[in-house]
Amino acid sequence: MVRVQVPATTANMGPGFDCLGMALKLYNTVEMVRTGAGLSIEVHGEGAFDIARDESNVVYRAALRLFKQVNCDPGGLRIRLINNIPVARGLGSSASAIVGGLIAANILAGSRLSHRELLSLAAAVEGHPDNVAPAMLGGIIISTLVEGEVRYLKIDPPPGLKVAVAIPDFPLSTRSAREVLPQQVSMADAVFNLGRVALLVAALQQGRLEFLSTAMEDRLHQPYRSTLVPGMKKVLAAARLAGARGVCLSGAGPTLIAFADSNLELIARVMKDTFLESGIKARALVLEPS
Ligand code: HSE
Repeated sequence: MVRVQVPATTANMGPGFDCLGMALKLYNTVEMVRTGAGLSIEVHGEGAFDIARDESNVVYRAALRLFKQVNCDPGGLRIRLINNIPVARGLGSSASAIVGGLIAANILAGSRLSHRELLSLAAAVEGHPDNVAPAMLGGIIISTLVEGEVRYLKIDPPPGLKVAVAIPDFPLSTRSAREVLPQQVSMADAVFNLGRVALLVAALQQGRLEFLSTAMEDRLHQPYRSTLVPGMKKVLAAARLAGARGVCLSGAGPTLIAFADSNLELIARVMKDTFLESGIKARALVLEPS
């Protein structure tokens, strides 16, 4: 039996649309066994009532993709998922399923793919690398696709940096959150994001948290997605007032995330309470980078 633990991730970090993400200390576990025939899937924890237990299951599909890629017939599979990452909330649950499925299947198939190949396969399955890269490698990852291959660099999270997340009680699929985005953006908005993301990477690298508030601004996706998350602007403003250094939508949402080095519990509570003022029930958590 193979057991793989994969962290949650927060992608984009404001301006780094599809290229920046950070792993968080909140984990899903995938256990996988090859059997003679058939498929059985058990799900515990987050998504226990709604995650598919048939051939459409994301972990299973990722595993199958791996077995096909290396020309290995898995026979049957028994899969057990112990989930702590909320599903479809912008914390990388699908990336964790893809990465967990691929890594577990690779081990069961005799570790024929390298980490590099696994990462590119994970990005191909997910469609973008910013969640799967930190899910596989940990830390803060800057990643981009070059002819199907993920090129990346890792930054260690600045000492003392933690996050408060407010997780609304409704799911939002990445597909719907991408459908509201424009096909084209203005040069002014592109330049706005380039400056912010460059500043953000340098600020994270140098531990200059005082830059995060400006460096996490974004014009490429959050203005469009704010229509999908009631109270988003108010919650982010309240988190800033409570002491957050930088705030943004986590991944495609609907979770909102605040980065800080103190007052995390207060920030989390304020975010949850402010969501409630807009009629949204949310769970609030304080998490550390993984
Ligand atoms: N970069 C992706 C997005 C992350 O914002 O759509 C969500 O999977």
